Amino acid sequence: MVAATSKKQPSGIGIIGIGSYVPEGTLTNDDLEKMVDTTDEWIRERTGISKRHRVDEKTATSDLAKEAALRALADAGLGPLDADMIIVATATPDMFFPSTACVVQKKTGAVNAVAFDVSAACSGFLYGLSIAENFVRSGAYRHVLVVGAETLTKITDWTDRGTCVLFGDGAGAAVVGKVGEGRGLIASTLKSDGSMGDLLELPAGGSRMPPSEETLRRKLHYVKMEGNQLFKAAVKAMANVAATTLAEAGYTGDDLDLLVPHQANLRIIESTANRINVPREKVYINIEEYGNTSAASIPIALDEAKRRGILKEGMLIEMVSFGGGLTWACALMRW
Ligand code: ACO
Repeated sequence: MVAATSKKQPSGIGIIGIGSYVPEGTLTNDDLEKMVDTTDEWIRERTGISKRHRVDEKTATSDLAKEAALRALADAGLGPLDADMIIVATATPDMFFPSTACVVQKKTGAVNAVAFDVSAACSGFLYGLSIAENFVRSGAYRHVLVVGAETLTKITDWTDRGTCVLFGDGAGAAVVGKVGEGRGLIASTLKSDGSMGDLLELPAGGSRMPPSEETLRRKLHYVKMEGNQLFKAAVKAMANVAATTLAEAGYTGDDLDLLVPHQANLRIIESTANRINVPREKVYINIEEYGNTSAASIPIALDEAKRRGILKEGMLIEMVSFGGGLTWACALMRW
């Protein structure tokens, strides 16, 4: 006889404030039609994207991160001095060092916070969320700011139609702290597989291939992606991690009020939702407006869903991501 699975209860640690910021400038599919051999129809059918937001030349990742961080702190009723830790998840840091988190600390005046970056591509926000929860649970820190921020358009090859239609810029931030009994994170799963890292990489600029005239000529400072193979890996990994995280915590897709997936491709989102039997109306989708903003996509979606009155207190939500590394992750939370 199989014993009935009991539902795992929330940890009492969760998101106490959320905020996001995207640059005003946009690039539509029509704009891209003038730059590469593509069509609005192809992009919308194959990806679900209509436009993406894009920073100007002067703006860096920390500029977006700062705005999102201040909005999340304000939403929590806190100020910069209340932040004990800043984790910035990004694949497009301002520079190798100092960390973008240290730059954000300086720009926000969060002088009491210890600051560091997390490198997990599109899964970075969920990695950061799990790290934050553990630090709060240990009692070492009270308020941890987790920021997902990207300026992917700065590492995009605007002559490569296979990648340039996909990415956008933006930032989202969450303050992690105590939320009280019956709420907060229930389960968190983090996964990595370095053996498939070459499916999505930025080859040059690091110690393996330092910048040189040749790396510039060969455009090795831009994103290189094996889109089709990555697509297959993403479909499998996201669906599996969404299903196992739910099952191991004793829940099913029927229990979910909202699925908030990383917004990389509408078809990947739909197959993840199908696998756990979550109907379309319970899936938050905004890829049409922003494209793939990597680590920023989940916190931007959460903030938008909350401001639109879709995400409400007490809801059971599941966040799921997949990205370069490879990395993938899932978090189940009572909001
Ligand atoms: N416009 C028109 N045609 C195009 C375009 C375009 N923008 N891009 C590619 N094509 C063509 C290809 O050249 C190919 O033509 P061919 O058959 O003549 O060779 C054809 O379309 C099919 O190409 P595929 O790559 O097989 O197309 P696919 O259906 O796989 O869609 C896409 C491509 C959208 C990139 C998809 O593979 C995808 O979304 N992959 C996953 C991306 C992802 O999940 N990234 C996650 C991590 S991102 C991160 O970590 C930052």
